[in-house]
Amino acid sequence: MTLTPVLSKHWADPQSWTLDAYRATGGYEGLRAALNTDPDDVIATVKAAGLRGRGGAGFPTGMKWSFIPQGPGPDGVTKPHYLVVNADESEPGTCKDIPLMLASPHTLIEGVIIASYAIRANTAFIYVRGEVVPVLRRLQAAVAEAYAAGYLGRDIAGSGFDLELIVHAGAGAYICGEETALLDSLEGRRGQPRLRPPFPAVAGLYACPTVVNNVESIASVPSIMRNGVDWFRSMGTEKSPGFTLYSLSGHVARPGQYEAPLGITLRELLDYAGGVRAGHTLKFWTPGGSSTPIFTAEHLEVPLDYEGVAAAGSMLGTKALQIFDDTTCVVRAVLRWTEFYAHESCGKCTPCREGTYWLVQLLKRLEAGEGTEGDLDKLADIADNINGKSFCALGDGAASPIFSSLKHFREEYLDHQRNGGCPFDPARATAWASAGEGTQ
Ligand SMILES: Cc1cc2nc3c(=O)[nH]c(=O)nc-3n(C[C@H](O)[C@H](O)[C@H](O)COP(=O)(O)O)c2cc1C
Ligand code: SF4
Repeated sequence: MTLTPVLSKHWADPQSWTLDAYRATGGYEGLRAALNTDPDDVIATVKAAGLRGRGGAGFPTGMKWSFIPQGPGPDGVTKPHYLVVNADESEPGTCKDIPLMLASPHTLIEGVIIASYAIRANTAFIYVRGEVVPVLRRLQAAVAEAYAAGYLGRDIAGSGFDLELIVHAGAGAYICGEETALLDSLEGRRGQPRLRPPFPAVAGLYACPTVVNNVESIASVPSIMRNGVDWFRSMGTEKSPGFTLYSLSGHVARPGQYEAPLGITLRELLDYAGGVRAGHTLKFWTPGGSSTPIFTAEHLEVPLDYEGVAAAGSMLGTKALQIFDDTTCVVRAVLRWTEFYAHESCGKCTPCREGTYWLVQLLKRLEAGEGTEGDLDKLADIADNINGKSFCALGDGAASPIFSSLKHFREEYLDHQRNGGCPFDPARATAWASAGEGTQ
């Protein structure tokens, strides 16, 4: 498959983030097409295109928009609608929304205006991860440009449609990327997930109908409005149509964003990225960030679309392909991820709050070579008590690296015990190899 740069096509252009540069490459033409269309037809177009949410779960975007109730509720009151863009990107390995917003903030803003028009929202928010101040500044500057050009504010481009767009900085918590925690945070409360139902489409921000979409999902909409459903469906697969950003990081010759049709394989992407770094071989990788079960070199031919990755036992998630070569200790990598989950656990539910803490204790012991085989069963048992039994998907994400690493690398866990420490620690590795006990 060939690469299909759409979102990333002009990232290297001079001043790509300015309104002039964006308009010079057809920017805001999708908006014009949308404003000449009935809002329901815009929703129908996005539905027909088959765009799926790029924030992790792959939920169909047009269908999500169509859930927003129109007209007065049972109490006779018509509530305002809101669009909230989830720009909290914080998952280890996930690094696509931030470069998109830095290089081409107007693609997102154009998508926000089209989506708000479609769902009949007159106020939209972009909730940005707190730490990324340069992104915040660039977005704010682009929003100011869009207001000055009449793309935001009252009577946009003479259409009679009004929209206020607010860029909101979070305070840097991974859990605030979970859509209901994000809404609590946006309302000024501590970011913790809400019980569902009611779902945000019915009672979201300020208890009003709300659509929460990922940055890449919304940024994909202008190109669909401009080029049409058939063009979008000419890429990707029947159930996972279109193009997407694959983020290659780690032990790869040329890490970066590779925009390609859904269904491309890691083998093909690695060819574009110059392969695993010279002199080394692929050991394991994540198909969709640290919350998705790891794959090994056996999975190089798995089609990277929602169905293909699920059939092979993982999830496409955020398409964050973290590449680890033969120098990496899988126990250490899993420990680092688990420390992240323990730190970011919001503490609302017991399985995740307590379980992630104990997973870290066990993994530390195992990595130091002081664990036992029984600890592996305990690890699996704790992960099982978190998975599917926690209040939100952070818990499931924390369990994924544990289950999958035990499945593929159980012997490597045991090697730590046999070696009395990490076999990848250079000093110990030498001693171990000379003793003839190495398995790597
Ligand atoms: C712990 C956790 C963190 C999340 N972080 C993000 C995030 O940073 N960005 C994002 O778009 N979705 C994130 N999600 C998924 C959102 O809850 C939600 O599904 C997504 O924003 C929906 O957008 P989409 O339909 O466009 O994919 C996270 C979910 C969980 C459980
Ligand atoms: S699973 Fe973890 S992050 Fe989610 S609500 Fe429970 S404690 Fe909070």
